[in-house]
Amino acid sequence: MSAITGATRLAGVVGQPIAHSLSPVLHNAWLEAAGIDGVYVAFAVAEGRFASFVAGLRAGSVAGLNVTLPFKGEALALADEVSDRAGLAQAANVLVFRPDGSIFADNTDGLGLLGAFAAQAPGFDPAAGPVVILGAGGGAQGAAAAFVAAGCPQVRVVNRTRSRAEAIAAQLGAAVQAFGLEDAPQALAGANAVVNATSAGLAGGAPLDIPLAATPAEAVIMDMVYKPLVTPFLAEARDLGRRTVDGLEMLVRQAAPSFEYFYGQPPPPQVDVRGLALATLGLKP
Ligand code: ATR
Repeated sequence: MSAITGATRLAGVVGQPIAHSLSPVLHNAWLEAAGIDGVYVAFAVAEGRFASFVAGLRAGSVAGLNVTLPFKGEALALADEVSDRAGLAQAANVLVFRPDGSIFADNTDGLGLLGAFAAQAPGFDPAAGPVVILGAGGGAQGAAAAFVAAGCPQVRVVNRTRSRAEAIAAQLGAAVQAFGLEDAPQALAGANAVVNATSAGLAGGAPLDIPLAATPAEAVIMDMVYKPLVTPFLAEARDLGRRTVDGLEMLVRQAAPSFEYFYGQPPPPQVDVRGLALATLGLKP
């Protein structure tokens, strides 16, 4: 890290838990490579005290924040101005503190998602056909919003609890259709991409049982989970010969537009942030 001065520009990430966040590693590597007098730290904030934490930052001591679980919805609600894409995602992962004391909220997760597809499935066109989102939590809502905004003609949200998928469809409009898990084969038929945004399989639970073979051979399969890098879901997709996109690429790619908000310039391209992320997380490439 370069020397901290009286003019150092501070930004950070807030969440709970936050100690294992990758964001400080990425942003500080970019700051150092770019020679910017800045530092990026992780703020651990107790649940229930997020609003008072953010209120204090209106004073202007911090340029901006990345926001992660469980505060993304609250971050959106606290902002004075909200980007269209953050509004559609019903979540903010970036807060910018303006000189006049106001707060602007954006969501760069959708850019990260589509950027990951562009990087790992070159030629994939989100507007070319139906896309399936598995799950109906915050991650799924954001993914569905990103595909709608990218011109996807039909976003099929498949969820165990169908009513949650219906709520996303009601919010995002006619391009989104809701399905229960039992209707997954219909949803998968003719899909150009499938994104797993469920927490199934995490923490040793049973992996998601989805008939991926029902997708067309050219479908692209993505998992938002990145630990392990190749999840059982992605391994199954690869066994079927499908192209795959991993969650780590999404995580890395949502960071770059945040950096630009905080430090006023794009991150320097020479930093291998994916390699850094893999090493930090102890993942095998
Ligand atoms: P987020 O972290 O994205 O906000 P969440 O609100 O915790 O997610 O939701 C997790 C998602 O994974 C939900 O869509 C959940 O389905 P339900 O809405 O029916 O609860 C889904 N999920 C979790 N475990 C699952 C399992 N074993 N099978 C299928 N879906 C599962």
